[in-house]
Amino acid sequence: MTAALVGGPEGSLGHAAALVAGAVDRAAARSSGPLSGVDPEVLRARIDALDPCPDAGLGLTTAIADLEREVLDHGVWPADPRCAAHLHCAPLVSAAAAELAVGATNQSMDSFDQAPAATFAEDALVRWLGGLLGLPASSSGVLTSGGTASNLLGLLLAREHAAPCVADGLPAEARDWRIVTSEAAHFSVRRAAMLLGLGERAVIAVGTDARGAMDVSALQSALRAERVIAVVATAGTTDHGAIDPLAAVASAAREAGAWLHVDAAVGGAFALSDALAPRLDGIAAADSVTVDFHKLWWQPIGTSALVVRDGAALGAIAHHSDYLNRSGDEADGVLNLATRSLDTSRRFDALKVLVSLRATGRRELAAMVERCVALASATGAAVAAHPRLELVAPVSTVTVLFRVDGDDATQVAVQRVLLASGSAVIGRTRIDGRETLKLTLLNPHATERDLAALLDLVASAAVVPA
Ligand SMILES: Cc1ncc(COP(=O)(O)O)c(C=O)c1O
Repeated sequence: MTAALVGGPEGSLGHAAALVAGAVDRAAARSSGPLSGVDPEVLRARIDALDPCPDAGLGLTTAIADLEREVLDHGVWPADPRCAAHLHCAPLVSAAAAELAVGATNQSMDSFDQAPAATFAEDALVRWLGGLLGLPASSSGVLTSGGTASNLLGLLLAREHAAPCVADGLPAEARDWRIVTSEAAHFSVRRAAMLLGLGERAVIAVGTDARGAMDVSALQSALRAERVIAVVATAGTTDHGAIDPLAAVASAAREAGAWLHVDAAVGGAFALSDALAPRLDGIAAADSVTVDFHKLWWQPIGTSALVVRDGAALGAIAHHSDYLNRSGDEADGVLNLATRSLDTSRRFDALKVLVSLRATGRRELAAMVERCVALASATGAAVAAHPRLELVAPVSTVTVLFRVDGDDATQVAVQRVLLASGSAVIGRTRIDGRETLKLTLLNPHATERDLAALLDLVASAAVVPA
């Protein structure tokens, strides 16, 4: 019965789940590259031909077969070593499977009476993460849909720390408030400034060194010259993968009385590894930290965490509703996560994180993160040794920035040709005003040989007319 409800007497989940899992497994087995390379116009026409809601239901077997043929066969496969453009991981099988339970049980994280065990599970997860990062026992946090949302919440708390604006809006002096970050910071910092009413021009982006890490003396100058309410350091920048000098940034921010937000969307996972954790030295001084589980923790999108040093800071956004998270109940000890979140209804994403972390264990996860870093380093060396490739910046973490011989138009053409043919999905960005190719290596099972073959593919694509 296709209208059966999970948990109802009409049917069980197992059969439907097996149909879906079978479709994904078959599509993955059929794929011979990171994507099919079907012409986008053809793809659009085929998708448009699927009636989103036919008058009479097709039944699950047919609906899933259509999905398999028209969508799954033409997606990208982040587990393919030639899929290396973005901070876009293949999820752990354990996390993807547990995702089924997230949807099926549909716990709603806004209130305890919709998610009792789930509420405690998410709360425990963020407190554990705070401890892993070295934050004090007062730390707390909340899961969000991604790094963009976590950065927004972190900067909202920073703004409220400068002066409470939730009730009355921005004071006149807010015109002078500044957020200092580096020019390599993610664009979501500017977007947050815009959404917080400060305007993008409130963001001062100081320069970086050759590795793409924040220049602390430029930060200090900005702190002396401006009314800085927040400093945003990045642990793992999007392009260079650079980790800002967190300890020095933290002490500069503290001296200036500014909130320190660390965008560790990428690098937060380094805390899992005894070998890599020292590269986050200083993160424990942060007021708030973004960690994206859907990057180097191999979770399905969208799963991020905003962790705060002092859980009480989240009180700045608390809003109580008579129907949902009554203040009287909370005074009696009820924990409603809507009170600390910018969302109301929200998925129980903590479930898949907990299941897959517990199944895999810290040692194995750390080894996976370490492997990606080692692979990026080896790939950087292979680029440097390649007769037709140029390494554009030293490799810091999991990204490799390079150019193939030729001008800017060649770099653009190479990335487009590889994508259009379905042979590789590589990144392209601009570094120091030049078009630059980028590999982002989040696949711990890829080999040096896979990456050498990818580099050769890139070099050979440079001679194909665009
Ligand atoms: C450093 C950094 N912060 C934040 C983000 C935004 O994360 P999300 O795409 O999960 O919103 C990204 C995305 O790549 C990033 O690289």
